[in-house]
Amino acid sequence: MFRNDPERAEKMTIEDEGLLFDFSKNRITDKTVELFGRLATESGLADAREEYFSGGKINKTENRAVLHTALRNFRIDQQILDGEDIQHDIREVRSRMKTFSDSVIGGEWKGATGKAIKSIINIGIGGSDLGPVMVVESLAAQRNHLEIHFVSNVDGWHLHSVLGKCDPETTLVVVVSKTFTTQETMANAMNAKTWLTNALGEVTANHFVAVSTNIQRATDFGIEEKNIFGFWDWVGGRYSLWSSVGLTISLACGYGNFEELLKGAESSDVHFAESSWEKNIPFLMAALGLWYNNYWDYSSHAILPYDQRLHRFPAYLQQADMESNGKSVDRNGERVSHNTGPIIWGECGTNGQHAFYQLIHQGTRIIPCDFILFAKPDHAFLDQHEKLVANCIAQSRALVMGRSREEIPKNSNAAFDVRPFKVFEGNRPSNTMIFDRLTPYNLGKLISYYEHKIFVQGFFWNVFSYDQWGVELGKILATNILERSENESHPSPLDSSSEQLLKFVSVKS
Ligand code: F6P
Repeated sequence: MFRNDPERAEKMTIEDEGLLFDFSKNRITDKTVELFGRLATESGLADAREEYFSGGKINKTENRAVLHTALRNFRIDQQILDGEDIQHDIREVRSRMKTFSDSVIGGEWKGATGKAIKSIINIGIGGSDLGPVMVVESLAAQRNHLEIHFVSNVDGWHLHSVLGKCDPETTLVVVVSKTFTTQETMANAMNAKTWLTNALGEVTANHFVAVSTNIQRATDFGIEEKNIFGFWDWVGGRYSLWSSVGLTISLACGYGNFEELLKGAESSDVHFAESSWEKNIPFLMAALGLWYNNYWDYSSHAILPYDQRLHRFPAYLQQADMESNGKSVDRNGERVSHNTGPIIWGECGTNGQHAFYQLIHQGTRIIPCDFILFAKPDHAFLDQHEKLVANCIAQSRALVMGRSREEIPKNSNAAFDVRPFKVFEGNRPSNTMIFDRLTPYNLGKLISYYEHKIFVQGFFWNVFSYDQWGVELGKILATNILERSENESHPSPLDSSSEQLLKFVSVKS
């Protein structure tokens, strides 16, 4: 299929503002693309998309709109949701973020002892961590002088290791939690507060800010209201980096770069809203995913960025995708009879090539891949960038072209014919996305494509993509276990296995 059609690459490539999306190395023909388009048209995807963008309460189990796209909509002045102009509220918070970031970066924001801030610690988990950390790492070329740290894990080592690198006098803690109830975040925030007050006394107001929808809980925690940056229940945690959850991004890279990120995402929103289905990048990403997940029965999807700065991107997408579409109950409350979200995983190239690519090339499981590449580097080692580019293109080529036994030179020195082991069957699918450069704008575009891909897939799998009930049970049971370990005569003992494990831990510690 791939070898026989010289025009294929051109036909199966879409350009969107300097991005090249090449989906020619997939198990499809022109007819498949046409049928994908028909599927979208006949299933009413356009109406669902309209409802999504216009603030319909599509997160039905929580009765909420899903409006992260509103956070980056610079095209409109007003947007009414439940009687409120949310664009007005968004602008107000953005303006506060700008003023605050400027004053911290510029050194006007002083700590308790009159010193400027040098270190930021972002305390949050899940969507309150993965988006900001991924972006801050990705925009390393845009970073200013501030030292940025992220603490997410309830494992005290995470906090311990970060506090060890910071000076309380010059540290600002940004506590990010939509609910302001998350166990990990509250534990880390409380111990960070103790660390600050032990060093500085009770005058730590300028060392603590909060990002939350729960202003009451943040003030109860002791953070002054003027130091709280709000957002809204229609922003899902894993889609929240565009809101004040991106405060650490704005601190690390400057507000201007944060806004560029939003504008890049907005451009993909427009592309998704206005392009025909056959030329619509997020739609095609989603349709190809459905094709492999449900028709070919491939259960995982690899994200392979060829840029070291994107090393947290696969982890970020794991939450965005797997927490959204890892569902087995459909929108009618019935168990689904088809597979839903695949396993998302990945690692930067070329590191991954020397680790797991063997399985992608020759394993028994087929793993569709996304290769992500930037044409121009932000460093002076151009020879290395050329090698990086060559490797990226070579991998997708090897996967799709393969190599037959006849193409392998016979090694006369070998004790036996090793050619069967060197055969690559080929026809292993991938997409390649090439951006001009890793800028805030292009990063925003990239993330937004994936967000819309997730929306489209949730629509076709008929699951609610914007809730996450599956993570609740573990949280409840962790609380039970904690209570039980604190009180051995707790009225409700645990199951025998948990009792045994707990006993082993208490004997050992
Ligand atoms: O892990 C579940 C979850 O609710 C995520 O969806 C969310 O991003 C994370 O916890 C953190 O929640 P919060 O921002 O409320 O602390």
